[in-house]
Amino acid sequence: PSGAGGDPGGSEFVVVANRLPVDKVVDADGNVTWKRSPGGLVTALEPILRKHKGGWVGWSGAAESDSEEAEVDGISIRSVPLSAEEIAEYYEGFSNATLWPLYHDVIVKPEYHREWWNAYVEINRRFAEATSKAAAHGAIVWVQDYQLQLVPKMLRMLRPDLRIGFFLHIPFPPVELFMQLPWRTEIIEGLLGADLIGFHLPGGAQNFLYLARRLAGQATSKGTVGVRSRFGVVQVGFQTVRVGAFPISIDSGDLDTQSKSKDIRSRAREIRKELGNPKTILLGVDRLDYTKGIDVRLRALSELLDEGRIDPHDIVMIQLATPSRERVESYVRMRAGIEQLVGNINGQYGEVGHPVVEYLNRSVPRNDLLAYYVVADVMLVTPLRDGMNLVAKEYVACRSDLGGALVLSEFTGAAAELRTAYQANPYDLDGVKDAIVAAIEQTQAEGKRRMRALRRQVLTHDVEKWAKSFLDTLTSTTETTSSANRG
Ligand code: ADP
Ligand code: F6P
Repeated sequence: PSGAGGDPGGSEFVVVANRLPVDKVVDADGNVTWKRSPGGLVTALEPILRKHKGGWVGWSGAAESDSEEAEVDGISIRSVPLSAEEIAEYYEGFSNATLWPLYHDVIVKPEYHREWWNAYVEINRRFAEATSKAAAHGAIVWVQDYQLQLVPKMLRMLRPDLRIGFFLHIPFPPVELFMQLPWRTEIIEGLLGADLIGFHLPGGAQNFLYLARRLAGQATSKGTVGVRSRFGVVQVGFQTVRVGAFPISIDSGDLDTQSKSKDIRSRAREIRKELGNPKTILLGVDRLDYTKGIDVRLRALSELLDEGRIDPHDIVMIQLATPSRERVESYVRMRAGIEQLVGNINGQYGEVGHPVVEYLNRSVPRNDLLAYYVVADVMLVTPLRDGMNLVAKEYVACRSDLGGALVLSEFTGAAAELRTAYQANPYDLDGVKDAIVAAIEQTQAEGKRRMRALRRQVLTHDVEKWAKSFLDTLTSTTETTSSANRG
């Protein structure tokens, strides 16, 4: 029975995410085609999607009034339409001006507005209904990320026959912060509609278990949660919800192969030459987001130049920054701040034709990105908080030459795995500066030792392993849980 959600659809495996893995292309005559947009998630899930008559439910990224269905490369696409007002309230508002800052340690102040919450509920319902139409009887549904935390419960009510997984791609905050949210109980109950709830780190899973006890009054396990093991358990009536840690990764094998290609290698050499063959190239690659600590690395660079610890003639820093959420006020402010810092450094230390910081406010093509990774002597990943940070892993995957050094914030999910990076607390500017200098000055032998260990981790833990470990847990019925003390 499919309940109020309509007849079951044809997909035996459905991914539900805020965004579709395809871009809508409309030609001059108004004909619509869909183009695959590359992304780790779709790459990882593609074989499973193809094998199991897979479907993907998501938003196209534009303001629209009608739902559309299409078949792209063997995947059934179903778009969830959002009006301009809904984009403002559900996406820019509740998702990215309430939840995003709240879940990232309130780096900026989260805004709480009842009308944004109402839009979030309504759009989550729309996603649940669209999923209900796409999923075959008994299908596996995998809901992604903070924009859709109410979907598991809504979908379970519509379609009790489904097996529902949920994965959170951003940090799950400490209890003291989560308790600010006026709709905290609804969010916890929304997530508890899933059979399996996944986080990047055991800490997030444990935060959730505590809140499930406190806010939803459910009996939960109390043992520690492991990585891909020792799952937590919440008993919700007859339903057993499992809670686990599954750190996401990248298609490391593919990046490793691509980065070894002649084209990428020669493009990397070309970039160094175009920059005037500096001794050291520093690189940052991020969405332009206040969580990424782009300001931290620019301040560190500025002080190192002021103190004469690095010579402006020896170094170039490249900062690639993809525009993101450009209508959200805090993003507008942050961009202005970063561009001012870049201007200050270049004004003070650059030469005509040779700025110290090369800053691009755009996305670069994949091949160029890989060439930047290959040429960078020091990769700067300095977020104030980040669920995982795939850029750090991409850099490592591209360094089969065992060259380069990774400076990594302790407050990324990746820090738990990339232990031999030059780790630093991004709030301790002196510590960040020391980490940068240590990375610049490392001996070749030390660099190789560190990079070899980083690569062992990244190459043996790829995105396929991530997806498989989550989906195997979701579909298995044997309990491999932490001590089942459900008091
Ligand atoms: P987030 O999911 O918060 O954006 P991640 O580091 O986990 O952060 O993932 C970002 C992804 O976007 C990576 O795959 C990275 O290669 C890509 N990316 C970020 N900035 C750029 C850019 N300027 N050009 C091309 N790709 C980018
Ligand atoms: O990982 C966090 C996340 O918000 C994803 O859900 C999203 O696809 C990505 O960052 C980019 O953000 P947006 O979809 O808001 O452009």
